[in-house]
Amino acid sequence: MKILNVELGDRSYPIYIGSDLLEDKKILANHIKTQTICIVSNTTVSRLYLENIKNLLDDYQVVEAIIDDGEEFKNYDSLNHIYTKLLENQCNRDTTILALGGGVVGDIAGYAAASFLRGIPFIQIPTSLLAQVDSSVGGKTGINHLLGKNMIGAFYQPKAVVIDLNVLNTLDKRQISAGLAEVIKYGLIWDKDFFEFLENNIDNLKQLDFEYLEQVIYRSCEIKAKVVSEDEKESGIRAILNLGHTFGHAIENCLGYGEWLHGEAVACGMVLAAKMSLAQGWLSEYEFNRVKNLITKANLPTEKPNIAYEDFIGAMKLDKKNKNKEIYLVLQKGIGQAIVTNKYLSNALDDVIKS
Ligand SMILES: NC(=O)c1ccc[n+]([C@@H]2O[C@H](COP(=O)([O-])OP(=O)(O)OC[C@H]3O[C@@H](n4cnc5c(N)ncnc54)[C@H](O)[C@@H]3O)[C@@H](O)[C@H]2O)c1
Ligand SMILES: [Zn+2]
Repeated sequence: MKILNVELGDRSYPIYIGSDLLEDKKILANHIKTQTICIVSNTTVSRLYLENIKNLLDDYQVVEAIIDDGEEFKNYDSLNHIYTKLLENQCNRDTTILALGGGVVGDIAGYAAASFLRGIPFIQIPTSLLAQVDSSVGGKTGINHLLGKNMIGAFYQPKAVVIDLNVLNTLDKRQISAGLAEVIKYGLIWDKDFFEFLENNIDNLKQLDFEYLEQVIYRSCEIKAKVVSEDEKESGIRAILNLGHTFGHAIENCLGYGEWLHGEAVACGMVLAAKMSLAQGWLSEYEFNRVKNLITKANLPTEKPNIAYEDFIGAMKLDKKNKNKEIYLVLQKGIGQAIVTNKYLSNALDDVIKS
């Protein structure tokens, strides 16, 4: 097992990464200071892992709040279902919320914890690769509104994150690839050697070789933790974690959420961002091809779906990074470095969107 600390002063917390962690009662017990636990999960993940988790918690009073599975249920109704379960069971501040699931469950459970009684403790047990390398770390919590994704939320840090690799055995391959998109992102924005490591070991990762996966999840969380501890509330550098996301969100938005997985849209978005960086002269042809090849090998899309220019640019204008109606993009400066900028050749953006 590896342990990584997210440094945020008195809100610092550990991330445990390894196999069989959900067999070990002590890990959770070390971070639960309350009598009652409310496990928040969804219908799919609870069927697979709820009993296992409950076995670890026989010293506590356990309440369950199970929501439907899917991004479309990351909404107020599901959040309200969690509040109702908490209130029906007389939960008070002596309650810890335990999020058991992918990013949807983690985000909504985290927001329930941030808002119930103005804040109760919570712990993340992320079960999708995307949640393990990205959404469970960093404290962004929230729900979607009909008029926009992740529009209601709070920055609220967990007390601990427990990443057990074993749960990945039940995750389908398409979801594994979607998680790998965010992993590749960390190489692109922060660490050239890590990118090269991914190039050399992508097949092992796709086959869920735990030795490689553990290293890769650790390094991904380490990079995210470093960026978050420098800029918790995204007033600056944290925005580089959005590489590929301005394009990716536009793809998700224009195709309709759920058509492409988030990681797939981000993967394609990273290729579009790399194309722009190539046009700027910030990425060589050779580097551009490396980016595209790795994304292809991870079984992720590299070609933009057919979307009308006006719709695509309209969706990009909704991005949270934008200021004064200008589109800010995260672009590559070589492999391993990224910048957030509105200073790029605007015809290069048009070319990329029309390609
Ligand atoms: N908070 C953040 O910083 C942050 C960062 C990135 C993404 N997100 C959010 O995360 C969400 C996407 O997360 P996701 O990709 O995990 O999606 P998800 O939560 O919908 O999970 C994907 C699918 O995998 C299933 N699943 C999860 N774990 C499983 C397992 N071990 N075995 C079998 N099935 C399993 C889920 O039930 C679901 O059907 C989005 O809502 C996004 O906005 C948040
Ligand atoms: Zn993402």
